[in-house]
Amino acid sequence: MSAVAKLVSVGDTPRPVYELTGVSRFFNDGKVVALDGVSLTLPKGEFHSVIGSSGCGKTTLLKIMAGLMPPSRGSVMLGGTPVLGPRDDIGMMFQHATLFPWRTTAENILLPIEVRHGRKAARAERGRAERLLQLVGLGGFEDAFPSELSGGMAQRAAICRMLISDPQVLLLDEPFSALDEITRDFMNLELQRVCMEREASAFLITHSISEAVILSDVVHVMSSRPGRVVQSVRIDLPRPRTLEMTSLPEFGAYATTIRNLLDKGAFL
Ligand SMILES: Nc1ncnc2c1ncn2[C@@H]1O[C@H](COP(=O)(O)OP(=O)(O)O)[C@@H](O)[C@H]1O
Ligand SMILES: [Mg+2]
Repeated sequence: MSAVAKLVSVGDTPRPVYELTGVSRFFNDGKVVALDGVSLTLPKGEFHSVIGSSGCGKTTLLKIMAGLMPPSRGSVMLGGTPVLGPRDDIGMMFQHATLFPWRTTAENILLPIEVRHGRKAARAERGRAERLLQLVGLGGFEDAFPSELSGGMAQRAAICRMLISDPQVLLLDEPFSALDEITRDFMNLELQRVCMEREASAFLITHSISEAVILSDVVHVMSSRPGRVVQSVRIDLPRPRTLEMTSLPEFGAYATTIRNLLDKGAFL
């Protein structure tokens, strides 16, 4: 193990928000083992990421954490209670923004409230949707339709939709991987700012080593088939993180550690 890489020590970290214990998931009558005994802790206010090759079970893990799919074995606790289905305190974001083309930006952002609490409740939150749009630099676009937004703008609107129900934890499945590199760097820093401002806990799936290092307090490295957490690497770089930090020797050392832990065969 490199001098800068340390195993996650639970002792001095804040109170856990997520606790996963021995989470396994099988498909096709047990013939496919997508996840095998994943245990991890996400403390309140921390940013964690999971990195691993395609098909190693990352999306399955996130769906289980979100309560969208039950584990075959093991348990998932959030804030001390078991996750047994979708909940208001979890915000999710996927690779594609999936905004409804016939609804304006504000109407898309307010959709989670409308679905849960009705149109009147959604209308009452209009001011908050506008403030969120301002937070991500989309002030004035509340009445624009998705076809009038660029890819990066649509993802920023999706961030607002994730935040409208004020979740305490954000689950992100490669949210910016469809964007060009410059927009993606910018969006990642936006994400950091939003998380720091709201003291939200975040769990990000990525297959970019540099993205994992620049954003995370801890990077969980997964093996492929079956998906297991090989090691959890704590990243001791100060916050807020900046793109300039990617040229620090510590940054390079973390990236090398993670690259060496990844099951290289799985990427060929
Ligand atoms: N609903 C499903 N039914 C059967 N197999 C599935 C299902 N979802 C995922 N799998 C399998 O589980 C494994 C992990 O998939 P996934 O979690 O999507 O990987 P990743 O997100 O890391 O690319 C893959 O082998 C995939 O084929
Ligand atoms: Mg996936």
